[in-house]
Amino acid sequence: MRALRLALVASECAPFAKTGGLADVLLGLGRWLGKPGPEGGGHDVRVFLPFYKRIAASGLATQPVPGAQDLDVRFPQRTIRFSLRQAPLPHSRVPAWFVDCPELYGRDGIYTEDGDESLRFAMLCRAVLETCQRLQWSPDVVHCNDWHTGLLPLYLRTLYAWDRLFANTKTLLAIHNIGYQGLFADSHLDMLGLGEQRAHVHHGDLQGGRVSFLKTGVLHATRLCTVSRTYAREIQTAEYGMGMEELLRTRSQDLVGIVNGVDYGDWDPAQDPLIPHHFSADAPHGKAKMKAALLNRFQLPHDPRAPVFAVVSRLTAQKGFELFADALPVFLQREDMRLCVLGSGDQKHEDYFQWLRDTWPHKVGLYRGFQEELAHWIEAGSDVFLMPSRFEPCGLNQMYSLRYGTPPIVRRTGGLADTVEAWDPATRRGTGFLFDEFSSQAFAGTIDWALRNWRDQRGWQQMMQNGMRRDFSWHKQGPEYVALYQSMLG
Ligand code: ADP
Ligand code: GLC
Repeated sequence: MRALRLALVASECAPFAKTGGLADVLLGLGRWLGKPGPEGGGHDVRVFLPFYKRIAASGLATQPVPGAQDLDVRFPQRTIRFSLRQAPLPHSRVPAWFVDCPELYGRDGIYTEDGDESLRFAMLCRAVLETCQRLQWSPDVVHCNDWHTGLLPLYLRTLYAWDRLFANTKTLLAIHNIGYQGLFADSHLDMLGLGEQRAHVHHGDLQGGRVSFLKTGVLHATRLCTVSRTYAREIQTAEYGMGMEELLRTRSQDLVGIVNGVDYGDWDPAQDPLIPHHFSADAPHGKAKMKAALLNRFQLPHDPRAPVFAVVSRLTAQKGFELFADALPVFLQREDMRLCVLGSGDQKHEDYFQWLRDTWPHKVGLYRGFQEELAHWIEAGSDVFLMPSRFEPCGLNQMYSLRYGTPPIVRRTGGLADTVEAWDPATRRGTGFLFDEFSSQAFAGTIDWALRNWRDQRGWQQMMQNGMRRDFSWHKQGPEYVALYQSMLG
C-alpha cells in the first residue's frame, strides 16, 4: 500500500484554534495519519487552516512555506493575497499549513458575523487549491470538514477542473455537525466566483434566495462521512436532518459513519501534563486526589462520599441544557452532591448555571469561559459526567470522561449511543448511564439511578474500570479513514 497524499482542511485544529471537538479531531487524526511506523498511518498529510489573529498573537513559531508566498486568488470583485506559514502539529512531524491573510483572518474570533464570513471560508478552500497548484502537490484526497469547506468540491469541479494536477483528486466531506450549514444569500455566489455555477447549487435553496455551503459540499464531494454510525443514520431522518435529510438520503450509498478517535497523548490521566495527580485503571488512587484538588479549586467543601457531577461544554441548544431546569434543583436540594460546570455560549444557559451557583454556593462551582486546563481537571476530578444532548454527532467529552474514570450520563443519540454502554449492576458490565426520551423526567430518573449505584462503591469502581479500559484511540479508529480513502481511489 503506497503512502497517500492527504489534505485535511478545517476551520479549527487544536491547539491553535479550538471551540469544540472538531479541533481535537483534526489534531488527533492528522497526527495519526502522518505518524510513521506501525503506530500510525504513515501518510503524507498537511492540515490547512486559517492563520487567525489569535494564532498569530500566540507567539507560535511558524515558518514561511517556501514557494507559497504572496499568492493571489482572484475573486470577481477583488483579488486577495495570502501566504502560507507552517508549524508542526505538537508532538508530530505533520505540518499545519496556515493560510496567512490578515484582511480576512486578522480578526478577534475564529468565527464572525461580518458580512464577508462566506468569503473568509471560500478563501480557505481556494487557498488550499492554489497552494497545491503552486507547489505542484497533487492530493489523493482532500478531506473537507463541515460547512467552512463545503465549497471546495465545487471549486475543484469547476474553476480548477482544467488542471490535470487534480485529475485523480477525490474529495471527502466530513459532517461534524449538521446544525451549522453556512447559509448565505445567493447573491454571495457572484462575490465568491461561482455566479456562473448556479446550476450546480441546490435548486430549492436558490429558489428561496439562499445558498448553503454544507449542501453544496454534500452535492459535490466524492464521498461523505460523519462522526458516528448512529448519527449517519439519524441525519437521514426528519428529526435530525435539519432540512438536509432528503438530500442525504439520495447519497445514502456514499455516506458512512466513523466514530471519532481520542488522542490519548493529550487525554490520558496517566500522563496528562495539565493535571497535577495522575492515575490509570491499574493505579486509580490519584483520582481521589484530583477530586480534592478540583473541589479546592472551585472552593467547594470536600467530602469523598459526595459525588461530583460535571459539565464541560459549549452552552448551546444542541447539548440539552433545558433538561437541567426541572431535573437538577431537586437533587441539589436533596442530595449531598457537587456540580462543577465549565462552559460558555448562550446567555440563558450561562444565566441558569449562574443561578444554580448563587442558589447552592456550597454545592455548585461555575467557570464561564473557555479554559483547556480546567476541562482536563474536571474530567479527572469528577465522578459523573453529564451530557444529555438533544443531538450529538459523536461527542468527545464522554469518551474523555470514560478514560478519566468519570462515568457519563448521556442521552442515547448519535455518538453517545455508540460509545457508552449501560451499566448493569447484575452482570457488572457497562460504562455509564443512558436514557432515551428527551425529557427532564427521563434525565432526572437516570440521575436518580446513577445516585443509587453510587451507593454501591464496589460496583461503581467496576464501572469506572470498565470505562477506563475502553479503547477509542486513533490507532483503532484511524484505519477506518484510510480504508475509506482507499475505497474512494478505487
Ligand atoms: P462539540 O464539538 O460539540 O463541542 P465534543 O464533545 O466533540 O463537543 O468536543 C468538545 C471539546 O471542546 C472537548 O475537547 C471539550 O473539552 C472542549 N470544550 C468545550 N467547552 C469548553 C470550555 N468551556 N473550556 C474548555 N474546553 C471546552
Ligand atoms: C461537532 C459535534 C461533536 C463532535 C465534534 C467532532 O462539534 O458537535 O459531537 O464530536 O464535532 O467531530
